[in-house]
Amino acid sequence: AKITFIDSSGAKRTVEAEPGSTVMENAIRNDIPGIEAECGGACSCATCHVYVDQAWADTVGGPQPMEEDMLDFAYDVRPTSRLSCQIKMTPALDGLVVTTPERQG
Ligand code: FES
Repeated sequence: AKITFIDSSGAKRTVEAEPGSTVMENAIRNDIPGIEAECGGACSCATCHVYVDQAWADTVGGPQPMEEDMLDFAYDVRPTSRLSCQIKMTPALDGLVVTTPERQG
């Protein structure tokens, strides 16, 4: 499945993701700028914050309660904000587009 990351300046990077991997893991593996993921995917740092593209928001869905609490610590949270370590890639998410925030934390 493919994921396209758009950074805050509008630059796009498309990467190939294994099914079952998280969006965060793919960002780290491909050195995507703007994703820090300090806690390594434990949903306890909020530095893997991304904005899900509006067209994908319904397919991806919203955050779980624990993630929602953690998002309070993210910078410039919007209605489509998610923690990318909590989004698992499935065939249905092939082509997913997310934007990384200007900064984390
Ligand atoms: Fe820390 Fe996602 S990597 S919350």
